[in-house]
Amino acid sequence: MGVAKFPKRFAKEEKKVPEFEFQMVREDLVQLIDKSITRYVNVGTHRGIKVRWRWETKPNRQMYSLFDEVPLAMAIDEVLSNAVKYSFENFAVDVSIGSTSDDRFWNISIRDHGIRIPDDKLKEVFEPGRRLMLEPSYHGHYKAERPGYGMGLAYVKAIVEKHGGQVSITCKPSFKAREYPSLEYEQRHTVVVNIHIPKN
Ligand SMILES: Nc1ncnc2c1ncn2[C@@H]1O[C@H](COP(=O)(O)OP(=O)(O)O)[C@@H](O)[C@H]1O
Ligand SMILES: [Mg+2]
Repeated sequence: MGVAKFPKRFAKEEKKVPEFEFQMVREDLVQLIDKSITRYVNVGTHRGIKVRWRWETKPNRQMYSLFDEVPLAMAIDEVLSNAVKYSFENFAVDVSIGSTSDDRFWNISIRDHGIRIPDDKLKEVFEPGRRLMLEPSYHGHYKAERPGYGMGLAYVKAIVEKHGGQVSITCKPSFKAREYPSLEYEQRHTVVVNIHIPKN
């Protein structure tokens, strides 16, 4: 009897984001991001996709914050991996870091040019197990070439919030939408993930 119920319970458990022990250290975020860029710089080259500091210039100063570099590097890696995976061919993934206008957070910004996320799905993508590629409207975008479990952004959100920060995602057409609603998903969109980490 218990055995019969197991698969269902297991599936539910599997979709939870586990708790981590965090070891917060005051370090330079620029270095952390630079290492992530180095790990991802060649991942998309077969599709003509480059990962780079925006304007190809690494910020020339240090930006300190209190963080655990292992999970935070995982979070940045995951967002870079999505940016490469969902980018159209021959575009760059641009990474930048700056201050929020209220001066309280560092804003790490990761931008790609590719597949659209509809406005009403911008929050849902952070839910564990959520993948828009499973929806029929996305099948023109070669689902098979974009494998995943839909857990990445759920981890990113949990890790960033554990640092007292926030993550958000925006999407807008890369050029003026033409009058073909059926092509809405095929058009190139600019997707930006913003990660806010407290300056402390
Ligand atoms: N840069 C992006 N451009 C377009 N869609 C994205 C992007 N990043 C994430 N998504 C959408 O959000 C969903 C959830 O992302 P994630 O949790 O990382 O799952 P996965 O990468 O395994 O598909 C993805 O399946 C995709 O539909
Ligand atoms: Mg992912």
